[in-house]
Amino acid sequence: MVQGAANWNTEQTQEWLENYVDDWVSFYRKHTTEGKVASYIPILAEANRDHLGISIMGKDGMTIRSGDVDIPFTIQSISKVLSFITACMERGVGYMLDRVDVEPTGEAFNSIMHLEMKQVKKPFNPLINAGAITVTSILQGKTSDQKLKPILNLMEAMLGYRPAINVDVYESERDSSMRNRAIGYYLLETGFLESDLNITLETYFKQCSIEVTVDDLARIGMILANDGEDPKAEKEIIPRQVARIVKALMLTCGMYDASGKFATYVGIPAKSGVSGGIMAVAPPRVREEELPFIEGCGIGVYGPALDNKGNSIAGIRLLRHIAKQWDLSIF
Ligand code: DON
Repeated sequence: MVQGAANWNTEQTQEWLENYVDDWVSFYRKHTTEGKVASYIPILAEANRDHLGISIMGKDGMTIRSGDVDIPFTIQSISKVLSFITACMERGVGYMLDRVDVEPTGEAFNSIMHLEMKQVKKPFNPLINAGAITVTSILQGKTSDQKLKPILNLMEAMLGYRPAINVDVYESERDSSMRNRAIGYYLLETGFLESDLNITLETYFKQCSIEVTVDDLARIGMILANDGEDPKAEKEIIPRQVARIVKALMLTCGMYDASGKFATYVGIPAKSGVSGGIMAVAPPRVREEELPFIEGCGIGVYGPALDNKGNSIAGIRLLRHIAKQWDLSIF
């Protein structure tokens, strides 16, 4: 447990915490050699396996940054959180929950098997590919750019700038993603899709190719930790009910078939992406002792070397360490 500072918001404290996090990043960077960068989207194979960066942002704006923090990367599956939030805001929570369930699958993120084996009435959850593609089909708009616009608007409202789409990554996935096409055709056949399949997939590949940094993920995570309100502007960006559902989904389904272990050993909601990003949300906690970020924080991690579940190998270990040191667990 980190101890010794009475006021966690002073510059001195920030430097002190940053020194700790620098040490932890250097230590866990060694673990990147145990993972592999994703290659099923060909261009992602060009990422540097040794990169590891983290940004932690508190409600008061205090930000601890360490490692490779300035490298932009594509958001990939973390976009599923944003598309689901957007769809809930457009169509209402009831409409969405009638069409996508909120249950973990225990299967890989791109599994198709459970859809057929279990004869489901709706995809298991919005954070696996089948659920996310269904959610994207529900977004309003006739073209992919129209469907994408409210997601980018939402991000702009949180980040203060409009993120770009990495066209090379988009094209690389569009031209290679046979598995997502197979899932898409299955969803089409079962009647789950609410838009044209090609437009839906085009939108889905574009949303996965939105470029972000660890600071962006930390900021979105911090707003979710604050139940959807931007604390500085005192403005609700995401309805509280939606923010809460999304955090529950991140905890139970956000790390795919490693979600149980992540909840056990780290204990906070998180969502990963195959380019190596993780967005984690540490809600405010009540403790006797002084702890860093006791009012909650958002955490963005980038580490493109992945474990066999498709999650950042060093990123998960780093988060586990920080959660233990700072007692971040919600349990
Ligand atoms: O659909 C895909 O396969 C990718 N665009 C996103 C998958 C992903 O990020 C899974 N995350 N761990």
